[in-house]
Amino acid sequence: MRDILSREEILKYSQCGLSKESIIVLDTVDSTNLYCRELAASKPRNKTLVIADTQTMGRGRMGRKFFSPQSTGIYMSLLLNCNMIKLDINLLTVAAGVAVCRVLKNYCRIDASIKWVNDIFANGKKVCGILAESVSDANTNSHIYIIVGIGINISTPENIFPDELKSIAGSVYPIGITRNEIIARITNEFHGIYKKNDAAELIREYKIYSLVLGKEISFNQNGKAYTGTATDINEDGNLICHLKNGEIFTLKSGEVSLGSNCFVKTI
Ligand code: BTN
Repeated sequence: MRDILSREEILKYSQCGLSKESIIVLDTVDSTNLYCRELAASKPRNKTLVIADTQTMGRGRMGRKFFSPQSTGIYMSLLLNCNMIKLDINLLTVAAGVAVCRVLKNYCRIDASIKWVNDIFANGKKVCGILAESVSDANTNSHIYIIVGIGINISTPENIFPDELKSIAGSVYPIGITRNEIIARITNEFHGIYKKNDAAELIREYKIYSLVLGKEISFNQNGKAYTGTATDINEDGNLICHLKNGEIFTLKSGEVSLGSNCFVKTI
């Protein structure tokens, strides 16, 4: 199937008010998130979607790189003016994760789940990562734009992942759907979620996709290692963990590890 990124194709499936002018398709870029950050200086009024066929400096969380080879993935960022978002901006990562899972499930027939907070897994492998960043006003320090970057390994062959990713990363290999349609469907779902502004409903759905709830997890906070059971996700998207010593820990950020046999969801 021809799978060339095209804004006309994206517009065919788009139902979230994107115009031709608000979609930027690039062949190659350092990072679509960085591109959005530069774009924010021109003060766009609504939202802009930036996609690229490859990134030379794809960025992940915690200063990591996001492997972004040519034509085999989706590398997209949405630049959103905070004026248009009613949903708590801290929940936008959660919203993006749910949007991706819905599209993988409903349009690609892929059973995806989310490892708190925003790594998406399918068939035991990480297939998607999300990096949300803010652009703040230098004078008031308040957020004026949010950039939500989503990277999905669509058809990246296992053997080309860098060695350190080979055992962790995988691709979704969807059948009968193009990257353009997947991109449009994700932006539609994401738009629907933040317009609805129902945090409780969002978290309920996020919990259904969760890979960590009920499992033993370990994490580091302030240089200290903890182990316990992930028991809940609260309305702020924080992970509640019952530690082995009986204490309850609320994780607001960071990363958790799961045992290697835990990456396939059990219901
Ligand atoms: C992670 O897994 O740590 C997050 C990865 C986010 C990758 C996407 S690809 C599109 C956008 N541009 C970037 O440089 N990063 C995000």
